[in-house]
Amino acid sequence: MQNIIVAISGASGAPYAVRLLQILVEKQCKVHLTISRSAALVLNHEMDIKVDLRKFSAKSLIGKATKQISYHYYDDITAPIASGTFPVDAMVIIPCSMSTLAGVASGLGTNLILRAAEVTLKERRPLILVPRETPLGVIEIENMLRAARAGACILPAMPAFYQGPKTLNDMVDFVVGKVLNQLRIPHELFRKWSGVE
Ligand SMILES: Cc1cc2nc3c(=O)[nH]c(=O)nc-3n(C[C@H](O)[C@H](O)[C@H](O)COP(=O)(O)O)c2cc1C
Repeated sequence: MQNIIVAISGASGAPYAVRLLQILVEKQCKVHLTISRSAALVLNHEMDIKVDLRKFSAKSLIGKATKQISYHYYDDITAPIASGTFPVDAMVIIPCSMSTLAGVASGLGTNLILRAAEVTLKERRPLILVPRETPLGVIEIENMLRAARAGACILPAMPAFYQGPKTLNDMVDFVVGKVLNQLRIPHELFRKWSGVE
C-alpha cells in the first residue's frame, strides 16, 4: 500500500494515531491526513500535543517534518480525498469515535472524514475503523455491523496480553501492528504467534 488516508477522530487512543503515522512515514507511504476538532482536543489531553488544524505541522504531531504527509482540513470538502477519482489504496480511521462510526454506518458525508470514508466504501477500497468505546450499546454494535456489512474492517483498539507487553508502547504497537497487517504492510511491531512452547 502506498497512498493511505489516515483520519483521526475524537475517541480516546491518540497514541495509536501518532504511532501509525510514524510507521507509515518510516515505510515510505504517502499519507493523506485529516483530524477532527474533537481529535485535536484529545491529542492535547492525552499526549500534550497541540495541533493547529488551520496551520498543520507534521513536526508537532509526529516529531518530524515530512513531505510524505499531505494534510487536509476537516471541513475542506473540496480536498482530493473527497472524490473517488483520487487514487488511494486504503483508509484508516484511528481512533474512531462512536460519533464518526455512526456517520460512516449511515453514509453521511458531512465532514471530510465521513466523506472520504463514504467514498472509500463505494469505491470498494479497504476501510479500517479502530473504534474505542466501552461498554458498547446496541446502537454502537449495530453501527459496527452496518459498517462491516458495507465492507469496513472493524478493528477495535484492544491490545492483547499474550505477547507479554512490558510497556504502554508495546500495547500501542500491538494495535498499530494489527492495522498494518490489514494494510498488508510488513512490520515487526510484535512477534507473530508461533504456538505455546
Ligand atoms: C478526552 C476525551 C476522550 C473521549 N473518548 C472517547 C472515546 O473513547 N470514544 C468515543 O466514541 N468518544 C470519545 N469522546 C467523545 C468524542 O470526542 C465526541 O463524541 C465527539 O463529538 C466526536 O467527534 P468526531 O467523531 O468528529 O471526532 C472523547 C472526548 C474527549 C474530550
